[in-house]
Amino acid sequence: MTIQHPSFGTLSDDRVIIFDTTLRDGEQSPGFSMNLEEKLRMAEALSDLGADVLEAGFPIASPGDFESVQSIARRFSKSGPVVCGLSRSAPKDILRAAEAVKEAARPRIHTFISTSPLHMSVKLRMTPEQVLEAVANSVTLARQHTADVEWSAEDGSRTEPDFLCRCVETAIKAGATTINIPDTVGYALPEDMTRIFAMLRERVPGADGVIFSTHNHNDLGLAVANTLSALKAGARQVECTINGIGERAGNASLEEVAMALRTRQEALGYKTEIVTKNILRTSRLLATITGFDVQPNKAIVGRNAFAHESGIHQDGMLKDRGTYEIMTPESVGWTTSSLVMGKHSGRAAFRDKLKALGYEVGDNQLNDAFARFKEIADRKKVVYDEDIVALVDDQILRG
Ligand code: KIV
Ligand code: ZN
Repeated sequence: MTIQHPSFGTLSDDRVIIFDTTLRDGEQSPGFSMNLEEKLRMAEALSDLGADVLEAGFPIASPGDFESVQSIARRFSKSGPVVCGLSRSAPKDILRAAEAVKEAARPRIHTFISTSPLHMSVKLRMTPEQVLEAVANSVTLARQHTADVEWSAEDGSRTEPDFLCRCVETAIKAGATTINIPDTVGYALPEDMTRIFAMLRERVPGADGVIFSTHNHNDLGLAVANTLSALKAGARQVECTINGIGERAGNASLEEVAMALRTRQEALGYKTEIVTKNILRTSRLLATITGFDVQPNKAIVGRNAFAHESGIHQDGMLKDRGTYEIMTPESVGWTTSSLVMGKHSGRAAFRDKLKALGYEVGDNQLNDAFARFKEIADRKKVVYDEDIVALVDDQILRG
């Protein structure tokens, strides 16, 4: 099934649109706000990374957010990613978003309203019929300003199925070209994603003419798994952020989704336009701008993602990197894997390290040096190259 999309033209079956929301949902995490200059630098990096859509901000939220979205739209006024502004369903929100994105070569308005019973009754204090009316009116108004309109059912994963179908049908009839079903509170399981997207594609008239999108929060650590499940059930747009930043526990991480799709392409069957070798530098730029490092064991971009300390693993790595690496570090922007010298390291890696440091030692010298290295390693968490140089030089001096 190919889809005609106002911003992307003809989309083949296997193409996944990467919608980056680092500058909007990502920025909503406490302590992660960015100023105009920082947002522009990130937008540039995200464009170099090959993100298809940049959700640049929430223009009604503040004059600063409006200015950031407008500046990013101006930056991509000739070509570049689709530039998107978020809005609630109120006309003043939509008009503000329309104004902010209008200079982009490919502008998008993303309008949303809550559809779950809890959100409608407690937060919005609206009846389901009033919500349906708001869906129709907001999408119709947005379509008067751009051909590319995304509609989201906030708390979609906790929405009653029949009502979700009615909302989606209403949004499609009013002209939405992308339909996003967020798991706003990170409550869904992968099988819920399969059920929801399969149901919408089967039951909603007009579903085969729009792009379905998935937007997952990570409260149970399932955001990426849920994203992949949604794709398998027919979603074609993934909403994600660099380093997985976002409200509370964050959003699905762009780098994890992109590398899962690439590494397991045979099993999953989808492709993206992400330039994967730019992943690490984009992640580092965000960390520098926000002042928040990623945790060492973070997939793809954590400092330990391609580091090996245990003797068994180091031995395997020296024989064939495929023994303990499922993708190359170079493919995501690292210069190389690292064999970290610590108390779990083995003789093979130690010999290799000595060689790299310029020492050719015989078996007896190696045994002595290795024994001393293990003593040091028991005292220190990591043994640095300088420690090893000092150890061997001392041994050579002592004869
Ligand atoms: O998580 C969410 O529901 C959102 C919407 C505004 C798309 O971020
Ligand atoms: Zn969100």
